[in-house]
Amino acid sequence: MRKHRDAKIINPRGIHVRPVSIIGTGCYLPERVVTNADLEKVVDTTNEWIVTRTGIRERRVARHDQAASDLATEAARRAMADAKVTADEIDLIIVASITPDMVFPSTACFVQHNLDAKNAFCFDIQAACSGFLYSMEIAQQFVSSGKVKTALIIGAEKLSCVLDWQDRSTCVLFGDGSGAAVLRACGAKHGILSSVLGADGSLSGLLKLPGGGSRHPTSEETLKGRLHFMQMTGREVFKHAVTRMTHAAQDALKNCNLSIEDVDCIIPHQANLRIIDAIGERLGAPREKYFINLDRYGNMSAASIPVALDEASKTGRLKKGDIVLMVAFGGGFTWGATVVEWIKG
Ligand code: UT7
Repeated sequence: MRKHRDAKIINPRGIHVRPVSIIGTGCYLPERVVTNADLEKVVDTTNEWIVTRTGIRERRVARHDQAASDLATEAARRAMADAKVTADEIDLIIVASITPDMVFPSTACFVQHNLDAKNAFCFDIQAACSGFLYSMEIAQQFVSSGKVKTALIIGAEKLSCVLDWQDRSTCVLFGDGSGAAVLRACGAKHGILSSVLGADGSLSGLLKLPGGGSRHPTSEETLKGRLHFMQMTGREVFKHAVTRMTHAAQDALKNCNLSIEDVDCIIPHQANLRIIDAIGERLGAPREKYFINLDRYGNMSAASIPVALDEASKTGRLKKGDIVLMVAFGGGFTWGATVVEWIKG
């Protein structure tokens, strides 16, 4: 018997909370595939460099007429079908994205309209690549308190429109996509077992998109300076990603009285295979424990974890009763780790 079965699900104040479960998942990937060979024609790079330094082989790129809310809506429809919930039953929609349709209204409001989920209140959150785990924690609080019965959380990104296609150090790394999950307190004894979130704003300069906000409003200068594209100091981000994700995973497991040996599947943020291997070494988890799809999609920021979660579920990698550890790191910096007992299957 697993150790956590004797543990109670408690919040940090020691109050017992209703267990919240993931009752359905879905994802949507744009049809267009862009391979490393395609990128060799765009910037000074090679398939060999991209594969050996990152593990990425191809990524998806959305059509010009698709915005983040369009990707999000498709993933949401699939998650709702998987969860067997109707649009009327959705009480809350959270979209995590760094590529929202617009500054406002929120992408979540566009998704609500597309789904005709008129009973839902809606908002976006921005925690870069950790956004989906941040959304899960927020939604969990609403559901476990009883305020909300059914929550829809979505990570959706159209990163292709914020990449600098002249900057080989970033444009080869990212892709477009969307993943979603439906959360409910469905009477199962266990669902989300524990969650750890963190941030360090002192390192915000290492990964950012500076233009277009109130700090650098759009102007000829911001356009000339290419400030509307993502900028990253890759090597520094790499180091912090490994440390933060390792500690977050360890803390989340400790909080629910589990060890890495109890974990059946790790769903990491899909930024770089070398980051995943470095975390694996520190946690004592072999590569086989990880669900990895970055070779096919690259880094999809907030969409990476929900897409991987859905693929792991639909391909039978996750079985009922499995312990799943999700762990993320992104701009801000932000990070998070969530441990779930999988109740589907
Ligand atoms: O999702 C949020 C979190 N993001 C991440 O976790 C990303 C973290 N960072 C990384 O994954 C890695 O740092 C990168 C994949 C971005 C870069 O790998 P690296 O091993 O840290 O390479 P580097 O930036 O230190 O660059 C090494 C060399 C440089 O050339 P020189 O100065 O040694 O001559 C770069 O100019 O590789 C060069 N380089 C490239 N060469 C061919 C950088 N990008 C490319 C490229 N093709 N696309």
